[in-house]
Amino acid sequence: MNWKTITKAGLAVTLSTTLLLGCSSSKDRLIMVTSADYKPYEFHDTSSGEDKIVGFDIELAQLIAKELNIKIEVKDMDFNGLIPALQSKRADLIMSGMTPTPERQKSVDFSDIYYESKNTIIFKKNNSLTTSDSLAGKKVGVQLGSIQEKEAKKMKGVQVVSINKVPEIIQELKAGRIDAAIIENTISEGYTTNNPELAFTELKNSEPTGSAIAFPKGSPYVKDFNRVIKKLKDSGKMDELVKKWFQNS
Ligand code: ARG
Repeated sequence: MNWKTITKAGLAVTLSTTLLLGCSSSKDRLIMVTSADYKPYEFHDTSSGEDKIVGFDIELAQLIAKELNIKIEVKDMDFNGLIPALQSKRADLIMSGMTPTPERQKSVDFSDIYYESKNTIIFKKNNSLTTSDSLAGKKVGVQLGSIQEKEAKKMKGVQVVSINKVPEIIQELKAGRIDAAIIENTISEGYTTNNPELAFTELKNSEPTGSAIAFPKGSPYVKDFNRVIKKLKDSGKMDELVKKWFQNS
């Protein structure tokens, strides 16, 4: 071994320790699954001619990855398949505007909440279905596997129509095949702005529907991600991201 190889070896050791310092776990590429049907959290942007998954969650994930010196690769799937993907080790984390419910906490670990939202009823302006009571006897669209589906199932007399992708829920609503839908305010805002025939109201007495990152049970990453989430909140970077994605979306 000449001195050059020795220096190279030394350098390699130093580099890998620096990488590891960023994050207490050893994997340097994590697979993140999401349901990219949820503008502005995650959606397909084809405006550049290329199909890219972008949004608040995606940019937040990249910021966290940068802080932790890791790479995050994003994969798209149905919302209903996200937790199973984590459980079968096909993914390392979920970022998908997912609410950390006690029921889900039985099968995954969640980070701290990084953004809050609320449930709304979205409907056609001409049949103002503005309260949960008004939904009795009506067909109400919800995303399959979502907390909105659970909420709708608790409402007396509601015919729940579970649909895989959120844009399809809106299509069904516009086509009159469902009467209303339950969707988070952060999503309803965009759809009502772009579809003047639609309106939404906040669903009364429904719990806040914050978003958190899901990991497999016992994952060493929860602590690292929480540390960075806190840092981004404290530094004002999180507010910047929120402004960018949630204002005039
Ligand atoms: N917050 C709701 C839930 O956790 C809906 C999330 C839907 N997310 C999505 N990317 N489609 O059930």
